[in-house]
Formats: sequence, structure tokens, C-alpha cells
Amino acid sequence: MKILKGRVAVVTGGAGGLGRAMAMHFAREGMHVAIADIDQASLDRTAGELRALGVNAIGVRTDVSKGDEVDALARRVVAELGGVHVVCNNAGVSPLGLAWENTIADWQWMLGVNLWGVIHGVRTFTPILLAQDEGHIVNTASVAGLINPPSSAMYNVTKHAVVALTETLYHDLGEQKSKVGCSVLCPAYVPTGIADSERNRPSELANPASVKKSPEQFAKEAMLQKAVRSGKLSADDIGAAVLAAVKEDRFYILTHPRIKGAIRARMEDILEGRQPRNPMSL
Ligand SMILES: NC(=O)c1ccc[n+]([C@@H]2O[C@H](COP(=O)([O-])OP(=O)(O)OC[C@H]3O[C@@H](n4cnc5c(N)ncnc54)[C@H](O)[C@@H]3O)[C@@H](O)[C@H]2O)c1
Repeated sequence: MKILKGRVAVVTGGAGGLGRAMAMHFAREGMHVAIADIDQASLDRTAGELRALGVNAIGVRTDVSKGDEVDALARRVVAELGGVHVVCNNAGVSPLGLAWENTIADWQWMLGVNLWGVIHGVRTFTPILLAQDEGHIVNTASVAGLINPPSSAMYNVTKHAVVALTETLYHDLGEQKSKVGCSVLCPAYVPTGIADSERNRPSELANPASVKKSPEQFAKEAMLQKAVRSGKLSADDIGAAVLAAVKEDRFYILTHPRIKGAIRARMEDILEGRQPRNPMSL
């Protein structure tokens, strides 16, 4: 999309972290912005910061794992901001664990936010963009959508699925000869709240007290928190990369070039029929 000023962006998980940074970049371009999130206090704070940039902004409490709430989000955005042009399906969570240790509640929470959240966004907003034959969808995956680090099976599953969904969306839009564009965002570690996702787990998907984390899992969580804290790019850098990709209609948004070696290694292992190398040891 070349002209963003005066248009409308929707960002899920927009109250904090990468989503907030995307929203701020869109607002600085003169876009009106709706942020959707489950964290009401952060929604209010970020919506205020967006309005201080001189644009219309609304915070809409939305659990993206629930289809009816995403449908209601779309209705409110169109009613209150007059339309929708850029949609960032970005909300996500990241609990860890060995592939066979995660509980059904863990899987349901992770799949609900990271995958169903993006599915609902695509299902709900794409017809609106198609009808006006204008707009852009950005789905947040991760480098974990292109490689498979250990101890994060659930996260990897959802992020590979988001890459698959978005690549297929691209082809489907192309076959319709639509002017609507789409991108998939695949960052590596960026300092945000992602390693403290448990704060966002709904009580109905809490594990019973009898489910104990192993010492290995505590150690992995500490490692993830350290890795996220140590990320060299900021959320603001990622927001800038998303804005540029929307303007340039670029599909893959790979913000951390050093990870390309691990992606290449995975592809080579597949094509050469080798056992998969651990991307964290490359
Ligand atoms: N930070 C990183 O290192 C990193 C790397 C790769 C990908 N990502 C992805 O970026 C996206 C944004 O994460 P972040 O790093 O900004 O983390 P974050 O925890 O700072 O922000 C995530 C936001 O999503 C919201 N959220 C959580 N569950 C929700 C739900 N059910 N419905 C609506 N909103 C919900 C949270 O309240 C929070 O505001 C996620 O999809 C994450 O997987 C992050």
C-alpha cells in the first residue's frame, strides 16, 4: 500500500510489545488505529499514546482465540473508524516444554491465541479488504515458523502454521487477481513481554496444581527470558520493518539476518535427506 495517511490499521496484541510498536509506526504515518488486546490497562494506556500523535485510536478488548470477539472487533472498527485497510494479526503467547509434557490446556491456550487468533483475523477481515480491493494483512509468525528449536513444540507448531496460512493466503489472493497484499513477520528474539506469557493465560485453561514443571523446564524458561532480554533489535525496529513491508508490499519480513543460516541448514537437511540439525547449535 502506498498511501497510508487517513487509512485505518487494526493491530491485535496491540497494547504492548511488537504490536504497540506497529501501532505507533502506523499512527506516525497518519493512520487511524484500533488496537485489540486482553490487557485492558495497557490498551487504555497505548490508545492514549496513539491519540497523542493526533490520530483517532480505539482500544478494543478482544480475546483473539474467540471468533465472535474478532467479528465484533471488525464491526467496531468499521463503525468507529470508518473502515479498515491494514490488519496485523499479531497477538501471541509462548509457553515452553518438552513435546510430550505439555498438557491439553497448554496446547489449547497456545493454539487458541497463536493459530486460531490469526485464522479468525484472516477469516473476518480478508472479505472486507477484498470487497474494497485494497489493503494489507500482516500475520506475526516467528523464526520458529521456519526452524524448530527444541523445548517449544507448541510454539513451533503454531508459527509454522501461521507461515503456511499466510503463504497460502498470498496464493489465494493472487489467483483472485486481488490488489490486497499480505506479509508474514518472522523475528528472532526482541525484548518484550513474550517470555512472561503466563500472565495472559485465562483461568479456564490453567493447569491443575498437580501439574509440576520439571527443573529442565524452569531452566529453559530462564534461558528464554535471558535470550529475549538480550535481543539486539528493539520492538520499535520491528514496527519500522512492518511499516516498510506494508509500503513495499514485501511478503517475508525476516528482521534478523543471522538466523538465515539455520533456515538454510534446515532446508538442506530436508533436501539431502539428513537428520535435522538442532538450530540452536548452529
Ligand atoms: N518478542 C520476541 O522475541 C518475538 C519473536 C518472534 C515472534 N514474536 C511474536 O510476536 C508477537 C507479539 O509478541 P510480543 O513479543 O510483542 O509479546 P508481548 O507479550 O509483549 O505482547 C503480546 C500481546 O498480546 C496480548 N495477548 C495475549 N493473549 C491474547 C489474546 N488471547 N487475545 C488478544 N491479545 C492477547 C498480550 O496482552 C500482549 O499485549 C507474538 O505473536 C509473538 O509470538 C515475538
